[in-house]
Amino acid sequence: MDTQTKRADVAFTVVENRRLHPRFVRLTLQAADGLQPAQAGQFVQVRVPSSLHSFLRVPISLHEIDAAQGRIALLIQEVGEGSRWLSSRAAGDRLDVLYPLGTGFRRPASAEASLLLVGGGCGMAPLYGLLKQLKQGPKPHAGRIAFLTGARTAADLLMQDEIAALGAEAYACTEDGSAGEKGLVTVHPVLQEGAFDQVYTCGPTPMMKAVAAVAQAKRVPCQVSLENKMACGIGACLCCVTPDKDQHHRCVCTEGPVFDADILGW
Ligand SMILES: Cc1cc2nc3c(=O)[nH]c(=O)nc-3n(C[C@H](O)[C@H](O)[C@H](O)COP(=O)(O)OP(=O)(O)OC[C@H]3O[C@@H](n4cnc5c(N)ncnc54)[C@H](O)[C@@H]3O)c2cc1C
Ligand code: FES
Repeated sequence: MDTQTKRADVAFTVVENRRLHPRFVRLTLQAADGLQPAQAGQFVQVRVPSSLHSFLRVPISLHEIDAAQGRIALLIQEVGEGSRWLSSRAAGDRLDVLYPLGTGFRRPASAEASLLLVGGGCGMAPLYGLLKQLKQGPKPHAGRIAFLTGARTAADLLMQDEIAALGAEAYACTEDGSAGEKGLVTVHPVLQEGAFDQVYTCGPTPMMKAVAAVAQAKRVPCQVSLENKMACGIGACLCCVTPDKDQHHRCVCTEGPVFDADILGW
C-alpha cells in the first residue's frame, strides 16, 4: 500500500450515522470533490467545534475508504466530549477533516503470504479497513487471512459478520467466555499456532504488546498501529513521540501510527 498521499483540509458531509454498539457508531462521510489517495492505517484529524478544548482536533483512523464514491467511514468509540460530539453527528452535518495523516499498514512482499489481523476496541477501525483493502483493493491478496477479535463479552464483539462476509477466517476471544475462546487474544490457538507470515494488530496498548511478544517469540513480523495521545497530528508539537529500542524518539503521527513492533522500545 504505497499510495502517494497529499494532506488536505476538507469539508465532508455526513451521509450515515449507524450505531453498531452502545459505545460505537460508524459515520460515513462524503467528500465534495473526491478523495485524496489514502491507505488503511492512516488517520484523520476532525475539528470538534463545540468542545471546550476545541483547538485540538480528534485523531480517528480511516475505517473504510471508498475512492470510487468519494466516501470514508470512521468508527467512533464514545469516551469523552469530542468523541461523543462526533458520534452524535447526523446525515447532512458537515465536518472539517484534515487527512490523510501518518503512514499506513505495509503489505507483505508476497501476495500469497498468510496474514493474521488481531484487533480490539477502536483498533477494529483500521484493521477492518486493512482487511477491506486486502480483499477488495486493486490487487486483492491471494493468501490466507485470519482476523482475531478480542472483547469483554459476546455483545462487545464488533463486525464479526462483516469480517466473515469479506472472506476472512473470523475468530474471537471474550474475557467472560460468552463467545469464542475464553480469555485474552493471546490464549487463542490461531495466534499461538504461529502459522503466519505477518501479524497486524491494533487495540489497547497492553493487548498490542502481548500480541507483538507472541509474534516475536515465533519470529513472525508484526506491525502495530499506536494510538498515542496527539495534538497537532502533523509532526509539529512532538507530544505523540514514543521511544524506539535505541531510545530514540519516534514521532507517532508522522513516522507512524503503524510501526514494525521490533523497532519499538517496548
Ligand atoms: C492515530 C489514532 C487513531 C485513532 N483512531 C480512533 C478510531 O478509529 N476510533 C476512535 O474512537 N478513537 C480513535 N482514537 C482515539 C481517539 O482519538 C480518542 O479516543 C479521542 O481523542 C478522545 O477524545 P475525547 O474528546 O472524546 O475524550 P477526552 O475527553 O480527550 O478523553 C476521554 C478519555 O479518553 C482518554 N483518551 C484520549 N485520547 C486517547 C487516546 N488516543 N488513546 C487512549 N485513550 C485516550 C483520555 O485519557 C480520557 O480518559 C485514535 C487515536 C489515535 C492517536
Ligand atoms: S501530535 Fe504533534 S507531533 Fe505528533
